[in-house]
Amino acid sequence: MSEMVTLKINGRQVQAPAGSTVIEAARGANIQIPNLCSNPELEPYGACRMCMVEIIHGKRTRLVASCIYEVSEGLEVKTDTQRVNNVRRLVIELMLSRNPKHPRLLELAAQHGVEGTRFEIDVRGCILCGQCVRTCREVVGVSAIGFESRGTLRRVATPFNESPAECIACGSCAYICPVDVIPLKEKDGVRTIWKTDFPMLQCRSCGRTIAPKRQLEHFAKITGQSLDDLTKSCVHCR
Ligand code: SF4
Ligand code: FES
Repeated sequence: MSEMVTLKINGRQVQAPAGSTVIEAARGANIQIPNLCSNPELEPYGACRMCMVEIIHGKRTRLVASCIYEVSEGLEVKTDTQRVNNVRRLVIELMLSRNPKHPRLLELAAQHGVEGTRFEIDVRGCILCGQCVRTCREVVGVSAIGFESRGTLRRVATPFNESPAECIACGSCAYICPVDVIPLKEKDGVRTIWKTDFPMLQCRSCGRTIAPKRQLEHFAKITGQSLDDLTKSCVHCR
């Protein structure tokens, strides 16, 4: 069992495993910290800065990203101070300049009293949270997509912007994206993602579409089953 440490969040004593992050400790204590790139299934990343909190060392306070800052014995954390809210408002304004209409960002804006952005609007959709890239690499295990370019041109892309050879068309990147900017379409037994058409396989018992052939092949390889085994029946007719 991991060693536990005791810290204070908003004046409340909270226990958390040593080595965990402040946002995890807060989640465990039902204290919400807004965030856009923290995901319990993924390694800490610290991209969006929405999860900033104030930590107190003696008379000094410091702003840190709670999703990458580790808990420690006696740490004092405040999640809702003026400084914290100023940073969050700035972050929201920056996100709105890249994606001014997404309901999730508009909701965060409303919750933080942000009415618009003072930054130049440059609609790119993606807020660079990295969840798609990390999910593909850490959960699916194929690294079909990555970041390219720097600064304002930074974006998620396939290698050389070509049809991704590694992609198994599972759609995890599209499903995880908090602002829905990765297009995924399904029509006539074909899933289209990353501008590539992936044929899907049907259940041999009921005829319903199961999943893209590439995804089933990947699954077959991992589990040692055959494609025939995987398409014999589906969750609906089993
Ligand atoms: S495409 Fe979506 S999930 Fe990927 S980095 Fe951009 S906002 Fe995040
Ligand atoms: S949730 Fe911590 S930086 Fe994004």
